[in-house]
Amino acid sequence: MAQEHFDRSRAAALARQVGTDFGAALAVALAFIGDRLGLFKLMAAGEALTPAEIAARSGLNERYVREWAATMAAAGYIDYQPADGTFRMVPEQAMVLAREDNTYFTGGAFQYAVACYRQIGKLSDAFRNGGGVPFVDFGPDIVEAIERLFHCGYEAWVADQWIPAIPGLKARLDAGADAAEVGCGAGQCIVPVALAFPNSRFAGFDVDAASLERARAKAARAGVGERLRFFQTPAEKIPDADRFDLIMAFNCIHDMANPRGALAGIRRALKPGGVLMWSEADASDRLEENLTPIGRTMYGASAMHCMTVSLAQGGEGLGAVIGPGLARALALEAGFSSFEKLPVKNPFHQIFVARK
Ligand SMILES: C[S@@+](CC[C@H](N)C(=O)[O-])C[C@H]1O[C@@H](n2cnc3c(N)ncnc32)[C@H](O)[C@@H]1O
Repeated sequence: MAQEHFDRSRAAALARQVGTDFGAALAVALAFIGDRLGLFKLMAAGEALTPAEIAARSGLNERYVREWAATMAAAGYIDYQPADGTFRMVPEQAMVLAREDNTYFTGGAFQYAVACYRQIGKLSDAFRNGGGVPFVDFGPDIVEAIERLFHCGYEAWVADQWIPAIPGLKARLDAGADAAEVGCGAGQCIVPVALAFPNSRFAGFDVDAASLERARAKAARAGVGERLRFFQTPAEKIPDADRFDLIMAFNCIHDMANPRGALAGIRRALKPGGVLMWSEADASDRLEENLTPIGRTMYGASAMHCMTVSLAQGGEGLGAVIGPGLARALALEAGFSSFEKLPVKNPFHQIFVARK
């Protein structure tokens, strides 16, 4: 057998990358603590503060705050000013880490990662024995993390960009139509969409009781009223046939135990000519094209959450990385008559449109 050439510089570069990832993993845990204990929000106004001042205002231990601030400054999450030993957040850092009102906000990512870390024991058991970790085992943090990761995007994009990109759909919803969302989670999409189309009626379907409780509370706070109702019903068992003009399924088909049954159930519930709007993370059908930092996030989230929650129900475990080719095959298998990828630019999602 030929001796493989050993490239020392490649080994050194990989060791450096692992060292960087090691630091990132620790910084994620500390950023989670900062997020949960309100440290980023406390600093969001941009005031230059010493660790003692941050500690006094937050009621936290100064020694821990000092070490936390140094870690966050090394990560670039906050700035350090050596002249007076203060730390501050510039507006860009506040947008990403503290202000939950814009599409750059990613504070939910720390919460998501830590909720997954907590399940490493059960996940390792699943590697050995098959099966998976049930959605409920991830606890309230995962529901809130998903909501915090996606709500700003849905508020900005769905009613204003994605729906108008489908010919005739906005006019139908403006006039008054029946629309639904499956896998609606905590209502992060359907509540703002219902507010945007006051003449239409909406139904949110999900299987998770805690998510639906949050969704109902969000709808009540928004004052949507009776036009929006929630049901603890899986997508594959939507009771009505030929009822909806539009069904949305965002970032959830792959989590389902029976995604093919869900797509068939959605098709059944649509009126003839009705539209399924389905989003997945922006991925290719080819693994080699997904070997990127974003691909790492997608496969990682899939293994640690999306795939395992499906397998925990004895499900298909489709996985969160779905390219347009697989999506098309699944839609056509479910009986949809047309399938296209919506030509909209988005930093996270690809949006598929299928018609009954
Ligand atoms: C990753 S979350 C996505 C939530 C929301 N659509 C979003 O994009 O932020 C997946 C959701 O699908 C729900 N789900 C899983 N299986 C389902 C099924 N068979 N029918 C309806 N919802 C389901 C989960 O409870 C969870 O709320």
